[in-house]
Amino acid sequence: MEALELSSTIREGSRDYRRGLNINYGRTCDCKPTHINCLSAKEWLKSQLGVWRFYYEARDIRDKNVHPATFPISLSKKVIELFTHEGELVLDPFVGSGTTLVAARDVNRNAVGFDLHKKYIDSCEQRLKEPTLFGKSKQIAIQDDARNISLYFETERISLIWTSPPYANLLNRERKNKSRRFRNNEQLGKIEQYSQDQRDLGTMELDEYTEAMGEIFESLLPLLRPKAHCVINVPDMWWENKRITIHVSLINKLRKHGYELRNVIIWDRTNIVNRIGIFGWPSNYITMGVTFEYLLDFWRPPKTIKK
Ligand SMILES: C[S@@+](CC[C@H](N)C(=O)[O-])C[C@H]1O[C@@H](n2cnc3c(N)ncnc32)[C@H](O)[C@@H]1O
Repeated sequence: MEALELSSTIREGSRDYRRGLNINYGRTCDCKPTHINCLSAKEWLKSQLGVWRFYYEARDIRDKNVHPATFPISLSKKVIELFTHEGELVLDPFVGSGTTLVAARDVNRNAVGFDLHKKYIDSCEQRLKEPTLFGKSKQIAIQDDARNISLYFETERISLIWTSPPYANLLNRERKNKSRRFRNNEQLGKIEQYSQDQRDLGTMELDEYTEAMGEIFESLLPLLRPKAHCVINVPDMWWENKRITIHVSLINKLRKHGYELRNVIIWDRTNIVNRIGIFGWPSNYITMGVTFEYLLDFWRPPKTIKK
């Protein structure tokens, strides 16, 4: 039955490109059917706080030349453990360096991640080569546009969508390092954007970006089981002294496409940013975007029973 290795990549022209995937999606734990995860009451209690903090570990990718915008494995694991059971299937439509796949493997979940760019699928491949304790679940990295994801799945197979999409065109400009105490580091003047490919959501202004996200997430909704969660990590951004509220645009757009917002969690990043310079003083109060991000938790609403 297992046609693919436990971890693998699919690229344009390969046998499994744009075809239904051979990947398991059913629970392998013995939790009660009504439980949403395998957590104990004690573990659940810790997750109830609305502000979360994480540390990077040695396996995390923090080199901006490898990928400019990774999230920590520990954050990814927490989201996956909160919203899935062992054996279930996680989707990351914008997988980047593959953090979601590494986290899913750590906690024995099947997972599929998509990215437009070869260099990031190479990075996923590299990371998945590292030894694992479990080896029972499968992780696949696919080089394709997120707009094509529905070609790979049957409906209602996915238990969690978890992702950090591009933050509109936040990275598509020269870095000024205005908020840093020491501006003159190797990032100064660099454009960190993933590519100038027209399909890349990181090249788009907010309105076009919001439309593209709406289109993509509309096509993903039928793939989710009813009551399955979809968690999206985004910050807001400042541009020309205006706050660009990416999180508001996404909430409105996804609601229009049938998702229901359940929770807004703040990822407090103050413990992992250092050397912040004074910003705006004394005339313009601006909260530092790098110190927190949003985790927008939606779900596919339960099916309503017609009377
Ligand atoms: C914020 S990064 C994800 C980083 C990831 N969470 C990690 O820890 O490495 C967003 C990713 O979306 C990818 N991307 C942009 N447009 C895309 C599209 N249309 N389809 C698929 N991936 C896309 C970019 O190449 C980038 O790697």
